[in-house]
Amino acid sequence: MRPVILTGSANVPLAEAVARRLAVTLMPRTLERFPDGEAHVEVQRSVGGDDVYLIQPTGPPADGNLLELLLLADACRRDGARRLTAVVPYLGYARQDRRTRGREAIGARLIADMLHVGRFERMVAVDLHSPSLEGFFEMPVEPLTAVPLLAEALRPFAGEQSVIVAPDLGAAKLADRYGRLLGCPVAVVHKTRLTGTEVSVQGVTGDVRGRRTLVVDDMISTGATIEAAVRALGAAGAAPGSTVAATHGLFCGSALERLAAAGVEQLIVTDSLPVRPRSSLPIQVVPIDGLLASVIDRLHADRSAMDLLASS
Ligand code: R5P
Repeated sequence: MRPVILTGSANVPLAEAVARRLAVTLMPRTLERFPDGEAHVEVQRSVGGDDVYLIQPTGPPADGNLLELLLLADACRRDGARRLTAVVPYLGYARQDRRTRGREAIGARLIADMLHVGRFERMVAVDLHSPSLEGFFEMPVEPLTAVPLLAEALRPFAGEQSVIVAPDLGAAKLADRYGRLLGCPVAVVHKTRLTGTEVSVQGVTGDVRGRRTLVVDDMISTGATIEAAVRALGAAGAAPGSTVAATHGLFCGSALERLAAAGVEQLIVTDSLPVRPRSSLPIQVVPIDGLLASVIDRLHADRSAMDLLASS
């Protein structure tokens, strides 16, 4: 029996591409809003006894996409699905993994609990904001990585005079991985977040003078982090123009415009989230449908997905 692929509204093209790879058709479903704003979902064919993979990134609007995922899971359970796997290419709330100021919620932990209530057997995620998030979940998590795919897309931009740059300390290990894959040295920008849309930079560690900078991060949201990093690299004497690679491109508000104004020349992101059709910047999109199809194929056959995971 083939796996069943079901999706909400968060990234239908990605789910379609995964289904094509697996030579199955997407499970038909309806998603609607009642007049009072409540979401209503219905799976249109029986999934009784099936191994169901629910593909839904929980990017903007994070709350609505999360609820859709949980409602679809509930519909499948009630219809007797044998096994349910949440395939969440981008996990919203992942950055809320600790209290930084005081009387805050730890959103990532709450989301993990909500997915547990959704009675998924397992979750698949791609480049989780922090590897330790895996431990928040009661269910097994398959933390995939798109870094090797993105590194290959970056390779044509990586020359002898290139340097991989982590735009903050949190991205230092990530930059190190790219550095090893591309044979480039690594530099780190020291950043402090001021608000949701503003950051400040204290300095740059590493040799960037005269070098072409390849900035890497797990995600771009408002663009504040990359903007500040690129400006700081310019001030530190780096060659003008940066190439930026990140797994998840949220591009909230005027992110793309602020990145272009700061001197970013090329963006490379995956299609974990729907890609903006129009952009003021060249964006290369690296597809991850093959990665997701591979992990689904293995999980469906009860085989290990170890070689696709972030730690490998
Ligand atoms: C921070 O820890 C993340 O890795 C990203 O650097 C950050 O969340 C990106 O957000 P923004 O684009 O709004 O600066």
